[in-house]
Amino acid sequence: MSTSSLFLVLGATGGTGKHFVTRALHDGHRVRVLVRSLQKLGTQAKDLDVWEGSITDVDKIDTDKLVEGVDYVVSMLGDKELQRDKKINYLFMQKLVPSMRKQGVKRFLYQAGGLSKPYQGSLSWTLWLLRNTLASGFNGQHLDNEAVMEYLETQAKDLDWMVHRAGIISDGESKGTLQRSKTKFSMATHRDCADYSYRLMIDPARDAVHTSDFSCYV
Ligand SMILES: NC(=O)c1ccc[n+]([C@@H]2O[C@H](COP(=O)([O-])OP(=O)(O)OC[C@H]3O[C@@H](n4cnc5c(N)ncnc54)[C@H](OP(=O)(O)O)[C@@H]3O)[C@@H](O)[C@H]2O)c1
Repeated sequence: MSTSSLFLVLGATGGTGKHFVTRALHDGHRVRVLVRSLQKLGTQAKDLDVWEGSITDVDKIDTDKLVEGVDYVVSMLGDKELQRDKKINYLFMQKLVPSMRKQGVKRFLYQAGGLSKPYQGSLSWTLWLLRNTLASGFNGQHLDNEAVMEYLETQAKDLDWMVHRAGIISDGESKGTLQRSKTKFSMATHRDCADYSYRLMIDPARDAVHTSDFSCYV
């Protein structure tokens, strides 16, 4: 992509989102963010079009304006505590997706977890066990991600969306290059997940459109 595009990054202050923002800026793109805390953006704030707000204040956010002029929307949102009993992402997506449609957004990437089931799909025995033991505290987050995947599959097939069912273990240095996989799943760093999602989004090929795959190291 030689020209500068406008990205809207949701979750820009998070583990994956912050790396995604850095990468997009580095490549000469413009980046709009919606954040709860300006302070968390640090000095990078000056390079961004910053909107302050919470996705839980659905009625207060003018989503049509939020996505105006935006080419690519990426969601790296998560709040484990709130998602215990509320599907905050799903509720926000129900308002955001019609705005994306109206404003002609080119692509939407939603980062879910590798332990979230794709719509009408299932988890391997190993991943099911991991979800229900060591990772059981994240169940609400997975249920929210699954509601979003169902919504995208059943009500937003007219949009070019892709879901990255990421596996994340740490915020350390890069461990390599991730690629898309229907079956193989790697525990990656935030940085590598962000890099992978970025490459997926700007890839002119359409192979990943309407998929909800894992990523694994090459
Ligand atoms: N972390 C993992 O181990 C892991 C593994 C696999 C998949 N995932 C998936 O990847 C996604 C992102 O993961 P992550 O680890 O990068 O997330 P993270 O570090 O927890 O960051 C989440 C981001 O979402 C923002 N956010 C949360 N609630 C918000 C709200 N109400 N309004 C606006 N922004 C809000 C946070 O803002 P604040 O900075 O204000 O909190 C933060 O920027 C999640 O959906 C998760 O399911 C995560």
